[in-house]
Amino acid sequence: MCVLVVLYLSVSTFPVGLVGSGWVQTLCPSSRLSVHYVTFCLIQVKRFLEPFRLSQKTLQDISSRLTQDMIKGLGRHSHHKAPVKMLPTFVRATPDGTEKGDFLALDLGGTNFRVLHVRVNEDEKSVLKMDSEICAIPQEIMTGTGEQLFDHIAACLGTFLEKQGLKEQVLPLGFTFSFPCEQKEIDKSILIRWTKGFNCSGVEGRDVVQLLKEAVRRQGDYEIGTVAMVNDTVGTMMSCGYRDQSCEIGMIIGTGTNACYMEEMCNVKRVEGEGGRMCINTEWGGFGDDGSLRDIQTQFDLEVDRSSINPGVHIFEKMISGMYLGEIVRLLLVKMTEDKILFSGKVSEKLRTSGAFLTKFISEIEHGSFQRILSDLGLQWSTADLRAVHLICDTVSSRSAQLCAAALAAVANRIRTNRGLDHLDTTVGVDGTVFKKHPTFSAELRSMVHKLAPKCTLKFIVSEDGSGKGAAMVTAVAQRIAAQSHLIDDSDEDELEEN
Ligand code: BGC
Repeated sequence: MCVLVVLYLSVSTFPVGLVGSGWVQTLCPSSRLSVHYVTFCLIQVKRFLEPFRLSQKTLQDISSRLTQDMIKGLGRHSHHKAPVKMLPTFVRATPDGTEKGDFLALDLGGTNFRVLHVRVNEDEKSVLKMDSEICAIPQEIMTGTGEQLFDHIAACLGTFLEKQGLKEQVLPLGFTFSFPCEQKEIDKSILIRWTKGFNCSGVEGRDVVQLLKEAVRRQGDYEIGTVAMVNDTVGTMMSCGYRDQSCEIGMIIGTGTNACYMEEMCNVKRVEGEGGRMCINTEWGGFGDDGSLRDIQTQFDLEVDRSSINPGVHIFEKMISGMYLGEIVRLLLVKMTEDKILFSGKVSEKLRTSGAFLTKFISEIEHGSFQRILSDLGLQWSTADLRAVHLICDTVSSRSAQLCAAALAAVANRIRTNRGLDHLDTTVGVDGTVFKKHPTFSAELRSMVHKLAPKCTLKFIVSEDGSGKGAAMVTAVAQRIAAQSHLIDDSDEDELEEN
């Protein structure tokens, strides 16, 4: 009877069941006892992981909540208090294939800062990266003063231009700045707040284009041309859009997460003009900042948020993106070990260190390579531990893929209803290490979007260097379309707005 119970649990609940564990046999020599012990362990593991499993109904509900928040964010007055900011980008057109020329691009906001020289080639419909260079941003600069950060950026750009023999040219520059910014025009962009571990003083509330130009002036030995500011989602959409003109959504699942899409101008209440479309940077990472996701946050999500440098901010992102997934797994491992479910109850010093379990370990473990990771973490494991660790990683990454799917379904359904279509066919440009490197993330995301948005068929194009090339593309499109709109005045009053 007991054996039957264990088999049932291992098959139905745990794809990689814990049955047959050597250490269970060691702890509980009698086979009857060991069976009970395994059952007990399974129930414990299940108990911890249960809150991470979201039903399709819950995901559908989350998708609907995001739709409501998107409407709030677009409203002329309601956007002030909206957790999902829905920022107008002033990108009013996707590429039409006639753009061309040489551009510089800066890309700040992921794990590295990059400088690129990009050529947009009209004849071949290609965006070529002529050359690029990565500059590390030391931790002390990430959390230092804004002036230090922008001086560092301008110095890296200067060195790059020198090496490329471009110092005498004045090239237009696309600046991918992957943080929430209130864009006033294509070249005026006010930082709302830092995310993803950056926290430089004196930048929030200021125009980052201005700060960049001042820093270039301080360098004194080169000049830059017109500047276009871009979020990385927009860069990704635009770089894919040069190849596939039906690309109307850009999505990032990397260090942070976010998406942009083409919205009807008549719904963008904060910008003058009714005709055509404008790309909206949703900043969906902020979903839940008003407590609307409290029912699905686990104790581990709450802990990750509490110990971050920006508690209460970007709640959705903290359940999904590369900056946080590893930490969620680490906290689960620590707790399960303390409760004697894993690693014979011995928590190593390393495992107790915040940030010690990198998000890339999740992909590596799901690929099947454990030994080096666990031994570097100072752990001693049994076969049962390996299976449990695999299951933990799989559960945390699956939840991330499913939550992204719920959010993407909200965006796709919005585009479809906006256009009064029975069925929408569109393309999503995607970038980010979590999406690209995890073995099953992309398949899981696609399959769940299909379930949550059955009336939308989405084609995914994985962007290569979207942030860099896309910034150049936005600059090129902006040059093509000279006329820009302006934000209209708004107020802080509450007002019921519907789209
Ligand atoms: C930022 C977004 C960005 C996303 C992906 C988030 O933390 O707020 O602006 O697009 O990360 O890089």
